[in-house]
Amino acid sequence: MSSFFITTPIYYVNARPHLGHAYSTIVADTMRRFHASLGEETFFLTGTDEHGDKIVRSAEKIGTDPQSFVDSVSREFRTLWPKLGIRHDRFIRTTDPDHMEKVQRFLQKVYDNGDIYFGEFGGHYCTGCERFYTEKELENGLCPQHLTKPEFIQEKNYFFRMSKYLPWLKEYIEQHPDFIRPERYRNEVLAMLEGGVLEDLCISRPKSRLSWGIELPFDTDYVCYVWFDALINYISGIDWPDGDAFSKFWPGEHLVAKDILKPHGIFWPTMLKSAGLPIYDHLNVHGYWLIRETKMSKSLGNVVDPAVIAERYGLDAFRYFLLREMPFGSDASFSEEALINRFNSDLANDLGNLFSRVLSMNAKYFGSALPPSGPVSEDDRTLMDLADESMRNWFSLFGSVQFAKALDSLWELVRALNRYIDRQAPWTLYKQGDNARLGAVLRLLMECMRKTALCLWPVMPETSEKLLHQLGQTLPESELFGTAPNYDLRTEIGVWNRMTEGTPAASSNLFPRLEMPEELKQAAEAEKQTAKAEKQARKQNRKNVITEETKPAVTFADFEKLDLRVGTVLSCERVPKADKLLLFKIDLGETEARQIVSGIAQHFKPEELVGRQVCVVANLAPRTIRGIVSQGMILTAENGDSLSLPAPTSMVPAGSKLC
Ligand code: MSP
Repeated sequence: MSSFFITTPIYYVNARPHLGHAYSTIVADTMRRFHASLGEETFFLTGTDEHGDKIVRSAEKIGTDPQSFVDSVSREFRTLWPKLGIRHDRFIRTTDPDHMEKVQRFLQKVYDNGDIYFGEFGGHYCTGCERFYTEKELENGLCPQHLTKPEFIQEKNYFFRMSKYLPWLKEYIEQHPDFIRPERYRNEVLAMLEGGVLEDLCISRPKSRLSWGIELPFDTDYVCYVWFDALINYISGIDWPDGDAFSKFWPGEHLVAKDILKPHGIFWPTMLKSAGLPIYDHLNVHGYWLIRETKMSKSLGNVVDPAVIAERYGLDAFRYFLLREMPFGSDASFSEEALINRFNSDLANDLGNLFSRVLSMNAKYFGSALPPSGPVSEDDRTLMDLADESMRNWFSLFGSVQFAKALDSLWELVRALNRYIDRQAPWTLYKQGDNARLGAVLRLLMECMRKTALCLWPVMPETSEKLLHQLGQTLPESELFGTAPNYDLRTEIGVWNRMTEGTPAASSNLFPRLEMPEELKQAAEAEKQTAKAEKQARKQNRKNVITEETKPAVTFADFEKLDLRVGTVLSCERVPKADKLLLFKIDLGETEARQIVSGIAQHFKPEELVGRQVCVVANLAPRTIRGIVSQGMILTAENGDSLSLPAPTSMVPAGSKLC
């Protein structure tokens, strides 16, 4: 029997659980349920990350000790998950004694392998990030994340020889295209590896400065760096090195957001390699939930409480919305208007309507008994093929973490079922007294509805159960959870007439339409007006660009003098004391990276450009800007006051010619 192991990040306990944490944990829950529905034995690990400076300071702020502080916030996470329909197998805390013991074992193993050394180190330490910054990484002397002045600390510390494993990691990622997915994050990690800026990892903190951590087994004056400790939860949580769960479930898959790509994409695989352990199967990376295009933050007062939303709109509607609305890997905007709109169109109109139409007709025409199937018409065959195709798509898309597309493809079936009802017009068959065909039509609809309800179980477990119940069926839940290992939902493809027993009920719509509250309507209208005004301004600008800036024609020979190339951004940082300038290192397929200075700092965040492809004028004569030699120019597209970076629609080899 194959197995599936999924993890979420273990969350810091210095913030209360919010929409972002809920999203990752709900997605992991649906992945786990999806694999259970394929007959796999599953294990789902989540928990809290409780060591480090930040925690000590947060505890101090409210006048308590670190242990009481972490106990109380960790409890909030642990008690929230069941309310969101999440079933995890273990909730790990980095203060759990078994985890602490295993971290020490792991450290000792890496130390014994000769991959940990002692050295002197000076760096700018930001407590917000719990990490050291080099001079180059600071922006005007400040931490680029928190815009606070880091403390310069010179001290002796232990280092993990990460650099030793970087060439191996690069090759591994190149040879395993979906190891880190979606592809854009794989490219980002590759760009970090190609940038040549990664060094060995400082993995200790002297106890004189911080004692809230796990003691190093080979030097009791030091505690372990919080990230090194935290990442090990992924194996300590399944009882590494010799527990049954570890041998059954490792290697597994991780799910994280883009903020913690580097520790998961680089630190963790090299740590595993050094300890002689197999590395994980997949790192699944998702984007950020934004609130009206901005980050959620306590100070903006826009933090979304998932328990409130689940309570207000129903848990399953909330889960459905999260998976359907965010294309996996990209950012998405959360708003209650969007949730209500999705609820009304997908759940009330398409799905709810389908069930209430079919089941009320079945109640009316057959007294709710399950009608027998009949001869298959051409239209029936088309529908059956579509149902099989939707299920096939469901398995392949959901299995490759494309949840929104998977749901969209399932909804194609739901909508096709509604259209089939309109075409077959059971009410006319009834009037004509054609009971055999009437029964066959309703029966086929119900067979397809059963398949849909079964597929939906990972995303909307309660709804799936209720829909099946309305069809007089039961959910093979105990089987889906692996106690009957031979059950595999994929065996339903191409198989019909499985509904042999049970009495369909007359149904009520599970998703009655929601009214949009007046204040949300007004907010949506205001947003629409702003978008319209912006669009008009852009159109106007475009006209201006075309009329005012058209230049005289050049000959083809002149055009050919330009060497235009596609480049991959290896690194990008702000030029100190220059508001507008960014310094790029760009791979143009040459032996050395190009250094290019570009005046676009007010339009882009440097960290968002790393890994992206840009178009470059490669043979522009070098120019010196603020003392830095710039060897080319990055092309931008102007749109009024904003800029975007033109790039090929899919990745091409660095240095590809533009012609
Ligand atoms: N403790 C570390 C993780 C250690 S894992 C070995 C940490 N904790 S965190 O509390 O900051 O959690 C970060 C994670 O929370 C993100 O990777 C993501 O899973 C989730 N999210 C937090 N805010 C989010 C959004 N706004 N949107 C989507 N998910 C986000 O980093």
